[in-house]
Amino acid sequence: MSVSFCGLELAHPIINGSGTFDAIAARRAFGAGLLHGFPFAAYVSKTITLEPREGNPPPRLWEAAAGMINSIGLPNKGLHGYLREDLPQLAEIAAGVAEQLGNAPPLITNVMGASATEIVRLLAACDEREEIAALELNVSCPNVKTGLDIGADPRQLEDVVRAVRPSTRKPLIVKLTPNTADVALCAQAAEAGGADAVSLINTLRATALAPGWEGEERRPWLGGGTGGLSGPAIRAVALAQVAAVAQRVSIPVIGMGGVRSASDARDLMDVGACLVAVGTESFRDPAAGARIASELAS
Ligand code: SIN
Repeated sequence: MSVSFCGLELAHPIINGSGTFDAIAARRAFGAGLLHGFPFAAYVSKTITLEPREGNPPPRLWEAAAGMINSIGLPNKGLHGYLREDLPQLAEIAAGVAEQLGNAPPLITNVMGASATEIVRLLAACDEREEIAALELNVSCPNVKTGLDIGADPRQLEDVVRAVRPSTRKPLIVKLTPNTADVALCAQAAEAGGADAVSLINTLRATALAPGWEGEERRPWLGGGTGGLSGPAIRAVALAQVAAVAQRVSIPVIGMGGVRSASDARDLMDVGACLVAVGTESFRDPAAGARIASELAS
């Protein structure tokens, strides 16, 4: 079950999707239980931006028929808050997991910037921290304008990845958006710019209308107007996009999108993913990653 990924040794191929599992909150809720049964072979942080962000106005979630739409808007403490307050706690959790399970999950920090200059500052600051094993560049959040613009345009994406690549010696994963005409072209652009791996899919742009009385103007439910759809509803899209990307790049591919079971994970691996991330399912079952990894083993 162990996997080599960009020079990192992972105990199994199941990791978390960025922003879908808060390890610090999980330790508060589950205590030592989290360390015995840590669900992921590597831990990906929520997206960090240079400055703190409040995120989008509420409501931020809508339950869809087979998943959910989020319009969270990347709330976070900002780079310095993350490095000062959260990273030491995540490193402590990883060390606790190593004591219990024998392997520390490598920490992958996910970052997003509005420009190459911002991204360089984020990557360079993370590069100095030995607790961080790899970086994931989010160019795919549908809930903030700038992130998506970079990721949807292959030429811009290649230029940005090429410009920021030298600012870290750590493996750099580029998280792609499905909200583009040709995701495989974007993956190739990320590879040409110097990415060590790509991950996909992030959420599909979506919206939902608030219930309204007859004759009333209907309004979007979400405070941000639109959001990103995730969960089983997007699994078939993820499978198609991961397959298309895996055929066109030679760097490792992390597949995700609506994975609920080992069979879903296996599908993504069979079309070329070397790791599989679990996202929305962890909201329903925080131990889903561990369950899927053990189903996959058997
Ligand atoms: C969000 O915080 O809006 C979700 C993160 C993402 O879609 O990248």
